[in-house]
Amino acid sequence: MADLGTSAEHGIDLTNKDMPLDYYMVDQNWDQFTSEEHGTWGLLYERMRNMLPGYACKEYLKGLDDLDISKDEIPDFRRMSERLKSLTGWEVVAVPGMIPDKPFFKMLANRQFPSGDFIRPRASMDYIKEPDVFHDGFGHVPLLSNPVFADYMQAYGEAGQKAMDHKCVNRLLRLYWFTVEFGLIQTDEGIRIYGAGILSSSTESKFALKDDSPNRLKFDVERIMRTKYKYDDLQQTYFVIDSFEQLFKDTAEADFTPLYEGLLQKPQFEAAEITADDVVLHKGTGAYAKEKAAQEKLKQAQEGADA
Ligand SMILES: [Fe+2]
Repeated sequence: MADLGTSAEHGIDLTNKDMPLDYYMVDQNWDQFTSEEHGTWGLLYERMRNMLPGYACKEYLKGLDDLDISKDEIPDFRRMSERLKSLTGWEVVAVPGMIPDKPFFKMLANRQFPSGDFIRPRASMDYIKEPDVFHDGFGHVPLLSNPVFADYMQAYGEAGQKAMDHKCVNRLLRLYWFTVEFGLIQTDEGIRIYGAGILSSSTESKFALKDDSPNRLKFDVERIMRTKYKYDDLQQTYFVIDSFEQLFKDTAEADFTPLYEGLLQKPQFEAAEITADDVVLHKGTGAYAKEKAAQEKLKQAQEGADA
């Protein structure tokens, strides 16, 4: 997670990575959310919830129900954590922004999920840079009620310390990106979504599952750790797991040390690249990326002409 500076409102220095975990945690102040903010949650919720059947995996949908996440109000983390703890031992803690990697990994290893304490403004319904309570509470938290995925998230947090020792944090964060944020899963009904970055965006949900443009490749840890991504645009490649058991097994039971030792010397892959070793479920047309590149070129030409 990126360091973003000081959270002025809370007086927390988010560039300081060595403080005890409760330094980074704040009160969610649930009682302070306005009716307009609860209404923003409701609008976002309704828009996504109606399209989820046929898109989201069943474990995620079960989590939404089991945790009583409804359109009526922003979830109160105290109540949400009570239910979550009884299911998988996880809790949700409010943080004032993106926290440094070290405490982030430690929280996950402790089964504490850091969630944004604010909700996006109505003017930015489709995209926000920093994760808010909708991205975290609606996108991430439901799946933490699944025991296997919950164990994977803890194992991932534990792997963080080791990655720091090997100076491979950015490579490990790619695993988070292509699974927890943008992961797809193979099911009996077809490919479904489990990544929170997709599930909190109607545009990306349609794009990730139905569009011909992006690649859909079989999950492979080393491949993922060597793959670049764009953090502020639709993904050009998605990785598809067979099951959450596979995700857990390939992370918790694997020792990444030998992988890290060779990783920094090996070439990296561009976001849209397909390699000879990939198991390709869908070879993307790349139409979206080409269109974007053409628009960018045109914009630059116009700016050049105006100068
Ligand atoms: Fe996220």
